[in-house]
Amino acid sequence: MKTKIEPFKIKTVEEIPITTVQEREKYLKDAFYNPFYLKSEQITIDLLTDSGTTAMSSKQWAALMDSDEAYAGSRSYYKFENIVKKITGFKHIIPTHQGRAAERILFQCFDVKGKYIPNNTHFDTTRGNIEYNNGIALDLLNENGKNPAFHYDFKGNIDIDKLEEVIKKYGAENIPLSMITVTNNSGGGQPVSMENIRKTKEVLSKYGIPFYIDCCRFAENAYFIKKREKGYQDKSILEIAQEMFSYADGATMSAKKDGLSNTGGFIATNDDKIAEKARTILIVTEGFPTYGGLARRDLEALAVGFEEVLNENYLEYRIGQIEYLGNKLLEAGVPIIEPTGGHGVYLDAKRFAPHVAPEFFPGQSIANEIYRISGVRTVEIGSVMFGKKDHNGNHIAPEMELVRLAIPRRVYTQNHLDYIAEAVIEAYKNRDNLKKMKIVWEAEFLRHFTVKMEYID
Ligand code: F0G
Repeated sequence: MKTKIEPFKIKTVEEIPITTVQEREKYLKDAFYNPFYLKSEQITIDLLTDSGTTAMSSKQWAALMDSDEAYAGSRSYYKFENIVKKITGFKHIIPTHQGRAAERILFQCFDVKGKYIPNNTHFDTTRGNIEYNNGIALDLLNENGKNPAFHYDFKGNIDIDKLEEVIKKYGAENIPLSMITVTNNSGGGQPVSMENIRKTKEVLSKYGIPFYIDCCRFAENAYFIKKREKGYQDKSILEIAQEMFSYADGATMSAKKDGLSNTGGFIATNDDKIAEKARTILIVTEGFPTYGGLARRDLEALAVGFEEVLNENYLEYRIGQIEYLGNKLLEAGVPIIEPTGGHGVYLDAKRFAPHVAPEFFPGQSIANEIYRISGVRTVEIGSVMFGKKDHNGNHIAPEMELVRLAIPRRVYTQNHLDYIAEAVIEAYKNRDNLKKMKIVWEAEFLRHFTVKMEYID
């Protein structure tokens, strides 16, 4: 059979709001032209994020009822710990309420002040947590990963030569840990190869630098390795994931992604000292180490989610959905990051709206227009999210200007994808009308969440 179907049937439905263009124009104005300020009731299809927006399975809902809400020693924690250990092989599994809590604790444990932390591309919260602790976040993405139209199987790879150069330049003593993010969210949800993970480990071992994986989307990454990397075709997703983690000393995870749940995260490590410090900080700021700020029912849902995400039928459908949407856009000439990655389609705003220079926020302009046309909410990953200013206040643009259409897991059907494609294609056809934007208010850290913007006439 050629048609790929959703490998589930629907037991509960949630009505989605249908609005008019006039209504949406008012909503956008009220939201300071920042989709983060929009309310759910104003959104028809929400592609802001794939994080915590998963539809849970009937087995997960059943597990929720079976949870043990004990403060300490909950059996729900042990179920969670058991499956995370099975997948990652790490010695200590420390739950947190979400990914950034894991990051905050990790960077406090490693004392990153004035030190360098390399990654393929740091996600915004990872970078934010490093900078908040006065550390320096380095992005060392391979050159192929920076060219949106260039086809390469593992565009998420870290540049191994650059990694070694950086170590030699700053000294291993100034690099308390090094990371890899799988898949590389900020660079298009692009996968990292097993070879790249292995080589990273080799370089870091040579200099005695600990290696941590930001593993939010580890199963999606493992699926790409199975499909694209020689020697992995006959391995299971679990086996591939186990090998990926075997090269690392630890991991942080936002389990709101490949944990197939609505909240949760963890720090995992083989280092007893780091684990001890992390648990101390956890108790002070998050909760006891057998719940880490989560309800124990959340740990139950995660324990089931971690089993379900390893299912290849699920992953084939999941990655297939992204590819389906990407192909529809490509057929209409819409510039996107190619090939499509793991959890969303990323529009290349530089080619989409070449008349809007980075300092006028082309991605934000496109995201607003897509919403205005259709009620589909997307998110800018470009100058609003990562832009900086030099000493004279001039704009420093990031490498890429993107708009991410993140697809929540098990939530939208193929008809929804067709509607999304129609909206984006319409915005693209009328791209000459896309207007420049300016920031009228911004916060000191992670400004994109709360920034207030206006169009420039
Ligand atoms: N690392 C990566 C690669 C992420 O994508 C995220 C979250 C985090 C860390 C932080 O996790 O949100 O649980 O605190 N990404 C979401 C997104 C927010 O929309 O891509 P968190």
